Amino acid sequence: MTQKAPFRARAEIDLAALRANVRALRARAPRAAVMAVVKSDAYGHGMVPCAKAALDAGAAWLGTATPEEALALRAAGIRSRVLCWLWTPGGPWREAIEADLDVSVSDMWALREATDAARDAGRRARVQLKADTGLGRGGCQPADWAALVAAARAAEEAGTVRVTGLWSHFACADEPGHPSIAAQLAVFRDLVAYAEKEGIEPEVRHIANSPATLTLPESHFDLVRTGIAVYGISPSPELGSSADFGLRPVMTLKAAVALVKHVPAGHGVSYGHHYVTDRETTLGLVPVGYADGIPRHASGRGPVLVGGAWRRVAGRVAMDQFVVDLGPDGAEEVGAGAEAVLFGPGDRGEPSAEDWAEAADTIAYEIVTRIGTRVPRVYIDDEQ
Ligand SMILES: Cc1ncc(COP(=O)(O)O)c(C=O)c1O
Repeated sequence: MTQKAPFRARAEIDLAALRANVRALRARAPRAAVMAVVKSDAYGHGMVPCAKAALDAGAAWLGTATPEEALALRAAGIRSRVLCWLWTPGGPWREAIEADLDVSVSDMWALREATDAARDAGRRARVQLKADTGLGRGGCQPADWAALVAAARAAEEAGTVRVTGLWSHFACADEPGHPSIAAQLAVFRDLVAYAEKEGIEPEVRHIANSPATLTLPESHFDLVRTGIAVYGISPSPELGSSADFGLRPVMTLKAAVALVKHVPAGHGVSYGHHYVTDRETTLGLVPVGYADGIPRHASGRGPVLVGGAWRRVAGRVAMDQFVVDLGPDGAEEVGAGAEAVLFGPGDRGEPSAEDWAEAADTIAYEIVTRIGTRVPRVYIDDEQ
């Protein structure tokens, strides 16, 4: 029996699973507070419902990349601490300060813009100083740290800033034992100690992302910034599966089979005819494509549960659809409207986001985050 799906496609978001994941992360980091990272629409899961569920489960902080994302949380009525870290010159500093957001600063220009905005707003900016301890991406280089700390202290004295955090980000936390991990931790400890010696009294010091939260207790400090694990996905299959960490995938991506038809042997399938039927068979049309975030790179490989069995994408993923070969007897098992499950927690034998990541030669982060806006998110909450 195949289930019928009365919709083209949908991403079911299991908020009870999300809350359980946050509780599991709190148990992993018992001495630290948990920040749920909800940037990029909560990794594709829908920012506001996921943020609220994470807070319900005891996350104390939310994290976003852009200030616009953080302001959207405030517009939705969320009052928790929120850190936003990806700023560009001319950004909405004043709005952020008035909304009581924590803003990250890695450079003098940013501190200047924050202090100017604080003066205009007539209130202190909550500023977190970000150090580049070795990632080589955002953050202040150790050589420039003393000057940034001195300027931040001066701004504290002038009443425009309160330095609420000192923080950094790992490069290789998903590779336990990688020498950069211990090196980054040592630099972080030194830079924190220096700032504190200079009179900074941060509320939170933090460096751990999901992999560090799960595998590296000495990196937890006051706060862990967890993203992918909140959504129930292991940061890396090499580290362990979701289940190994007591996590449950939150997103299930489904589509309704749009067409089932018999074709003869030797029939080319989809653009470029990269798949040709080797026998008389049945094709099923799955109405999602790269416009919905299904990676074209998974052409010929991506797995889908249809009619109780895994099928592989036959030929190319197109913008709005792809095809699976259901076999000669496929039409007996699968009709139009049958449910095709691309990925989920695996309860019914469906593939995982990691399986799609492998098929597309990427990481599961990208698979869930890129699911497009044309796919409605449907929130399921069995606890309520
Ligand atoms: C600065 C920062 N902190 C934390 C995270 C969360 O990382 P993860 O999803 O691996 O937990 C991210 C995500 O990339 C990030 O950019």
